[in-house]
Amino acid sequence: MSQLYQGIIQRYREFLPLQTDAKIISLCEGSTPLIRLQNLAELIQYDIELYVKYEGLNPTGSFKDRGMTMAVTESYNQGVRAIICASTGNTSAACAAYAARAGLQSFVLIPEGKIALGKLAQAMLHGAHVIQIKGNFDAGMALVKKLGQSLPIAIVNSINPARLQGQKTAAFEIVDALGAAPDYQCLPVGNAGNITAYWLGYNEYATQQRCQLPIMCGYQASGAAPFLQGAPVQYPETVATAIRIGNPRSWDGAMTATTASNGWFCAFSDDVILATQKLLADNEGIFCEPASAVAVAGALADIRNGRIPASSRVVCTLTGHGLKDPDIAIQQSAVPTETVAATLADIKALIADKL
Ligand code: F0G
Repeated sequence: MSQLYQGIIQRYREFLPLQTDAKIISLCEGSTPLIRLQNLAELIQYDIELYVKYEGLNPTGSFKDRGMTMAVTESYNQGVRAIICASTGNTSAACAAYAARAGLQSFVLIPEGKIALGKLAQAMLHGAHVIQIKGNFDAGMALVKKLGQSLPIAIVNSINPARLQGQKTAAFEIVDALGAAPDYQCLPVGNAGNITAYWLGYNEYATQQRCQLPIMCGYQASGAAPFLQGAPVQYPETVATAIRIGNPRSWDGAMTATTASNGWFCAFSDDVILATQKLLADNEGIFCEPASAVAVAGALADIRNGRIPASSRVVCTLTGHGLKDPDIAIQQSAVPTETVAATLADIKALIADKL
């Protein structure tokens, strides 16, 4: 395979626990850009080296592809023929796509009416069996665990260790791009698999590359903030449906990451999350989904309040592409109201008026 178009398994094979003769199921995921946010740093008038790791540019539009290439490769090579997950949307899209690629059946449990339309469209188009449940992600997750015990089907949620192994490669890429770990790594937290995976990745790579470890900052939506409450939340609610989770499965992993790195959790309202999504789109040309924007909202707040000191190097992970949730994007924007005749004169006049 060409070196230019390799997925994370080929790129970081030596760090990933796979049998040597495994057939790799990949969509050339990973190698996403690390983009410096010069405009935002200037806007807030702070001396800060701020970056986003734009995971929305993975093949299915979210970071889940890193974990899914590993989980599906492992399942496929074990002879598994069907995979299942509970999802707030992105895992289901990745599960469906990688299952299609591998020729496996996929089953996805999603909370009825609470997943963004782009994600539902993906799961359906890739041919997943989409099972809507009258319950939230936490209920779906509990059911999937039981189904995995009683049916010949592999669970590809992040309780599958292969998922975290794949997702840790994002930390490797950041270190490779910067030549060192950042001072602060900011992440949205839902089921808490990703923050656990990043911490794993930084630790493994720090030993290898002899670099320091970052301080891990986990950000949640105020209505779905079990780490802020210190206990599960029974009825999580947020516009950022990707992280509408009250009972995270990787609780211990997330606690270890923040505690061992002297990091923290913080939560932000839906209004702040949406304003940050718009801020990024307006000032940097970067379109992420609401759940991703909470990482930037958190970084900006903690830069302003001094918790993240001046001159720090900060990486925020943008976990999913903005097109995943077209409804929110449209609601966020002014609806086009002007329709003019398709004549040069009319359009010229209209543009000239705005220049
Ligand atoms: N951002 C996005 C866009 C997500 O889809 C998720 C999780 C997260 C952040 C949080 O990551 O769960 O590892 O803490 N989405 C899962 C899903 C739950 O089903 O797609 P986490």
